Amino acid sequence: MERAILEYKGARYELPVIDGTEQERAIDISNLRKDSGLITLDVGYQNTGSCTSAITFIDGDRGILRYRGIPIEVLAERSTFTETAFLLIYGHLPVEAERRAFSERLTENSMIHEDMLRFFDGFPPTAHPMAILSTMVNALSVYYPGYFTEDFESGTFDLMAVRLISKIRTIAAYSFKHSIGEPFVYPRHDLRYCANFLSMMFHSPVKPYEIDPDIEKALNALLILHADHEQNCSTSTVRLVGSSMVNLYASICAGICALWGPLHGGANQHVIEMLEGIQQQGLSVRDCVARAKDKDNRFRLFGFGHRIYKNYDPRAIILKGMCDTLLKKFNISEPLIDIAMELESAALADDFFIERKLYPNVDFYSGILYRMIGIPTNMFTVMFAIGRLPGWIAQWKEMHDSVPLKIGRPRQLYTGPPLSDYVPMDQR
Ligand code: ACO
Repeated sequence: MERAILEYKGARYELPVIDGTEQERAIDISNLRKDSGLITLDVGYQNTGSCTSAITFIDGDRGILRYRGIPIEVLAERSTFTETAFLLIYGHLPVEAERRAFSERLTENSMIHEDMLRFFDGFPPTAHPMAILSTMVNALSVYYPGYFTEDFESGTFDLMAVRLISKIRTIAAYSFKHSIGEPFVYPRHDLRYCANFLSMMFHSPVKPYEIDPDIEKALNALLILHADHEQNCSTSTVRLVGSSMVNLYASICAGICALWGPLHGGANQHVIEMLEGIQQQGLSVRDCVARAKDKDNRFRLFGFGHRIYKNYDPRAIILKGMCDTLLKKFNISEPLIDIAMELESAALADDFFIERKLYPNVDFYSGILYRMIGIPTNMFTVMFAIGRLPGWIAQWKEMHDSVPLKIGRPRQLYTGPPLSDYVPMDQR
């Protein structure tokens, strides 16, 4: 095994270098503090691996994203969201019997306990759907208790996983129906995952909803593209919270809250609001780019930049193509897409963005697609959460499968006052 050498105050420390399957290398510093008294400091974890993982591979410089080795482009074209969920969680594509059993279990678990419907009465119609989603997902632990620590081997985990994947879309659709004051539409056993969601969202007793195969296909691909993205903010949150051995629902609820922020999954809502702002307030694309570059202005170009991708986000490329397909098929004129493309060209030609390698990310075009599907803007991040759920579950499982399970507990460098006397403020 290769070793890296750290020299400090005349002492020499040998640190093992670990190889990943894609020629990635990591210096293992697990014993550094024990051996040298030193810790490493890496604010924002820009350069710190928190785990080893066999789920998702990203090469941000080359714009590569693969789940369990399979390129995202292939999955978006050929797989279904539920098959991809199985792949992420169990590590292989399902054989026919597994696929059927997984699908049947999703159908069986698609309703939510009738008593949980009363929760909706307490939410104001204006409630943000992410607040409703996180609350309801945590509340699943009340109605469907199950703690893997008691019986991880007996299938409790598998049941919790299908419950979550199936019920999350029911909760999401019900929060929309509640916000517009329409009756809930129950899930149907005869519809596939995405079609079922569209029916629960848009069907109404007075206006039947016809499922368009291209809309269903686009939704399927959108969810696949969001299904995992290794150790991002929300996934790391799921792992960290889960490492305390709390149940899966509570860990996922924490992930949903982390995703909500505008620097993470909440960016998709902000992208559309930004594009609408340009359209409605008569802002020019140039003004917008100038504001994003201004250090005294906290405004950022939402949907641009990524901690990992220093190239075009491969998901954004696929989504942009899908936007074109739907625009052509439905012959829609969507001014926001023209503004988005103008903004993209302006940013990609600007030295500020070139030097910092800031390219469109997944959130830049996903909002436009969700709009075409009919999803309201404040639900975009909920759609992201539905898509990301299998990844969170897979990462949670991988962490719990690893032995020994270590509680997540970063260190810090204390910079506060030294030992001080207790002197009340007014006696100083
Ligand atoms: N607009 C303007 N400037 C930006 C942007 C942006 N969208 N993104 C980064 N920058 C600039 C920063 O000001 C900084 O400039 P400096 O070096 O002069 O200080 C430099 O680029 C590096 O930015 P950081 O914030 O240090 O990069 P980091 O890797 O920490 O952040 C992040 C990544 C949060 C995604 C950032 O690019 C951002 O805020 N983007 C906008 C929000 C967004 O689209 N989020 C969704 C990301 S994808 C996802 O989570 C699903």
